[in-house]
Amino acid sequence: MRVLYVISEADPFIKTGGLGEVGGSFPLALKKNGVEVRVILPMYSKIALELKEKAALLASFKVPLGWRRQYCGLQELIHRDVHYYLIDNEYYFSRPRVYGEYDDAERFGFFNRAVLESIHRFSNFKPDILHCNDWHTALIPVMLKEFYSSDLLFINIRTLLTIHNLNYQGIYPWEIYFDVLGLPEAGLCYQRFSFKDVINFLKAGILYADRITTVSPTYASEIQHPYYGEELECILTAKKDLLTGILNGIDYERYNPQTDPYIYNRYGSYAQKLQNKPKLQKDLGLPVRPEAPLLAVISRLVPQKGLDLLVHIMPQIMAMDVQMAVLGDGEAQYENSFRYYAGLNLDKMSFIDYYDEALAHKFYAAADMVLVPSRYEPCGLTQMIAMRYGAIPIVRETGGLKDSVIPFNKFTGAGNGFSFANYNAHELLYTVQNAVGVFREKSSRWETLAENAMRSDFSWERSAKLYIDLYTALLEQLS
Ligand code: GLC
Repeated sequence: MRVLYVISEADPFIKTGGLGEVGGSFPLALKKNGVEVRVILPMYSKIALELKEKAALLASFKVPLGWRRQYCGLQELIHRDVHYYLIDNEYYFSRPRVYGEYDDAERFGFFNRAVLESIHRFSNFKPDILHCNDWHTALIPVMLKEFYSSDLLFINIRTLLTIHNLNYQGIYPWEIYFDVLGLPEAGLCYQRFSFKDVINFLKAGILYADRITTVSPTYASEIQHPYYGEELECILTAKKDLLTGILNGIDYERYNPQTDPYIYNRYGSYAQKLQNKPKLQKDLGLPVRPEAPLLAVISRLVPQKGLDLLVHIMPQIMAMDVQMAVLGDGEAQYENSFRYYAGLNLDKMSFIDYYDEALAHKFYAAADMVLVPSRYEPCGLTQMIAMRYGAIPIVRETGGLKDSVIPFNKFTGAGNGFSFANYNAHELLYTVQNAVGVFREKSSRWETLAENAMRSDFSWERSAKLYIDLYTALLEQLS
């Protein structure tokens, strides 16, 4: 079984969020489970020099893009035992940002076409499956059918499209369709791209792909409803027989409190974890008080993450005997709010207004609770990492948060976190109060909870097997 995994970001090459994290760890898990997987991504100028220097040029050729013929250098390298291909074109990828350039449609249109052109140049690797991810690669199933249907090399190739976040769809004017992508002027393709009076890359990808997955079972069903469907709910409902939700895993080597080089004290038990909290409190300039529950937020500060709820109840939280530490950057409205409350409550709250990997690990190791009140969350990795580090997640029951956090049951002692159902600030407040109440109890219930969380299995193993079943099913359709 040979899989070409196509993604716009993969750690350690490039990472802007959860997508890059998955891009870095999922292929490793596939490989461990016997899949011959190779990864292909753009060669951004931001990729670390030592990785770029390891890459060797395999081929260079011209990629058709409408009337254009654009240079592509196909580079390859092996890293952590995985085979990577990098698509090199300085005009498109030597940019300050990964996304958000004025010509993203053309940049990723080029990337998708270049991937398909590259398949001819691979040595000893003919993929059976093209596994694409999000709108940046959604044109691959389209182009495969529209441009390569008579090419013998491509005849039995199957496509799978994973949706990591339905909110980003790749919506552009029709000029892109005609001038950049050079797609047929009328007929099915035209209809499949059409979205209001513009085009939609993700919509087309969903309609062309042989199978669709998303990153948790709950999100797979949520997106068939208007609240979560981002205006694609009807299409997703129509395609529901081809749509599966598979929960992501996390990289258990990178996130391992027993070996983590970034944390203050490495640990394998909840009791040992406790040595980390005073050190972070000290570093953040907070009073060193082991008895004060430390609530952490480690997040991009964007509307998806439900921070409005938190901002709304900050006065009540600050009135409690707790400490709060926020790490992350994003939209000014959230940054300003957190800065304001941190300034007002110097002895209770600290706000670090940038993202830092090492500090994030220290936060997970030191925190008692991690808040993830997302408005929607396709999978979410924060809550899983938190649990691995014995920090108890407090989440809203949506998407992958719902599928990974089992609410604590005070009668049986089962569960690994706390959760609330509605997008409502006071439900969040009540849940925080409840968690703080359990934390303060003299009993050892909190310790049981933390041990439960640390023992929950969010390794890639299980998910990788589910993907392999899906690949197998796709290939069986051929025979
Ligand atoms: C996106 C989603 C997040 C998910 C990640 C990886 O960033 O917002 O929920 O965990 O992709 O699939």
